[in-house]
Amino acid sequence: MSARTAVAAVLLGALVSAAAQPAPKLKVGLMLPYSGTFAALGTAIENGFRLHVEELGGKLGGREIEYVKVDDESDPAKAADHVQRLIRRDQVDVLVGSVHSGVALAMAKAARDSGTLLIVPNAGADAVTGALCASNIFRSSFSNWQPGHAMGEVVAKKGHKRVVTITWHYAAGDESVRGFKEGFEKGGGRVVKELVLPFPQSEFLAPLVEIAAARPDAVYTFFAGGGAVKFVKDYAAAGLKHRIPLYAAGFLTDGTLDAQGADAANLLTTLHYADGLGTSRDNMFRLAYAKSYKLQPDVYAVQGYDAAQMLGVGLSAVDGDIGRRDAFVDALRRARFDSPRGAFSLSKAHNPVQDIYLRQVRGRENRMVGIASKSLADPARGCRM
Ligand code: PHB
Repeated sequence: MSARTAVAAVLLGALVSAAAQPAPKLKVGLMLPYSGTFAALGTAIENGFRLHVEELGGKLGGREIEYVKVDDESDPAKAADHVQRLIRRDQVDVLVGSVHSGVALAMAKAARDSGTLLIVPNAGADAVTGALCASNIFRSSFSNWQPGHAMGEVVAKKGHKRVVTITWHYAAGDESVRGFKEGFEKGGGRVVKELVLPFPQSEFLAPLVEIAAARPDAVYTFFAGGGAVKFVKDYAAAGLKHRIPLYAAGFLTDGTLDAQGADAANLLTTLHYADGLGTSRDNMFRLAYAKSYKLQPDVYAVQGYDAAQMLGVGLSAVDGDIGRRDAFVDALRRARFDSPRGAFSLSKAHNPVQDIYLRQVRGRENRMVGIASKSLADPARGCRM
């Protein structure tokens, strides 16, 4: 064998053995609440994410998926440490999280600094796809402004003039109310009082007394998870359910109806998902979810599922080579995602442009009764990209 043939043989051997090596698993860092008032939301997101990965045989873009999980406890004070551990110690390829806006803001800052890919599967903090927007940050859910703004228009159209708002005083509550106020006041209404409680407090008696005394035409609220269950029950127990109509961002009644029972009956909410959409895409998803988890899916399950769809679309475009960042990002920007909620695409700031449904609680369902806002895009204030 000549020297040249020998070198060629060695190179060929190296190539063959490299090709025979399976690509290492892709590490997904799931930073979600598995305890506290949002615990059920974190689990639904993980369930939805895993469901899509399982549908594709445990792989996205040809890469097997390995999960590293952190319970972030919905505690913003611990969020920077948690996310740094995932990035530095665990060296995850992509971060998926979280539910709480304060936690997601810390994740977005860490993602910007480190360049790690981040897909936010719930938290609506406006800044994630606003002032903190970046090419490596994506959201599969919504901005806090979106359901709030849509409901502001609905309540104004119903002819209500004076509204009291009540929420937790942190990014999600404050921004949901701000979105509501913008839509409502544009339609001629006025927010006459803004009541707030510290997160995750759920002692509602004193503010409910204030609402009764203010006698507004209606109330708008953002609560979610365990706090939402308690608020709906307390609102009814205080005798307000049949006196002052209650409107909300749909989180108030999503994943909570079994616990709220009759106290939630007929409530109107706005959200990017609903029961009874009746599309074949949604029916397939709901059947598969119920089969896997013996549970009905909710909006959180959909957002987890779509986070996996987004990752899958990006990875397929780069044949699993997540290092080809420009092509990965480009694929997501161009994609139309076939979501159980209905198709959506991403805005320039990487937030879903989507229909916001008007839903009404009927039995144990948030039935779709109309579209409150068609193809609604968040204004992405402060985003330079
Ligand atoms: C948020 O903190 O952004 C948040 C939390 C729970 C929800 C929705 C938004 O259901």
